[in-house]
Amino acid sequence: MRRGLALAGLCLIASVALAQVGTNFSFMPDGGKESFVAVFGSGDKARTALTETHTPQEWAARIEAESPGLAPPERATLAGYLAINTPLEQLLEPKGAEQDIALLLPPDGREIAVAQCQFCHSFFTGYLMQRRDEEGWLSTFKSPFHKEIKMSDAERRTFANYSALNMPMTFDAVPPELRF
Ligand code: HEC
Repeated sequence: MRRGLALAGLCLIASVALAQVGTNFSFMPDGGKESFVAVFGSGDKARTALTETHTPQEWAARIEAESPGLAPPERATLAGYLAINTPLEQLLEPKGAEQDIALLLPPDGREIAVAQCQFCHSFFTGYLMQRRDEEGWLSTFKSPFHKEIKMSDAERRTFANYSALNMPMTFDAVPPELRF
């Protein structure tokens, strides 16, 4: 009986892991990469923008001037992402200009959360359902069990900026296979 239960548990864990591998995380708000290309394109305007330095407020104004239709939460997410990650060093070198812009953009908040927060515990309760401000998210990295996660300072700040603006999600917005 015990053994049967343990096996059932193992199968459940395996199927959950498989479900997560196959999950498309586009149900989560964009972390900045998609809206960057929507606002600035991938040509010269985009390249120039990525060599600039601005505060989040200045970026928000610049984004609004380019794309007045972008919703405020997306604008704030993109503004934070750019304020933390620009200027892009590679683009300041002449040969950086030849590369595909999509490959040059550093990981955004959604990508970082998906890559870093699912393996030790529930992504749903440990991340998607958590409400914290930026300081609160940054403080998760102080606990002993999170200190070891390999992330750069810019990645932590990008993650905290994104998460404060976009979490928690509503229960219904999360695909049923992730609600555990
Ligand atoms: C190396 C394993 C590991 C990874 C990766 C990990 N966690 Fe955790 N996390 C833990 C452990 C262990 C606990 C404490 C026990 C528990 O609640 O499951 C915990 C607890 C938490 C808690 C509740 C306690 C607290 O600190 O407030 C939150 C929130 C949390 N994790 C968020 C995250 C986020 C966000 C990420 C991604 C950046 C993440 N975790 C990645 C191991 C991990």
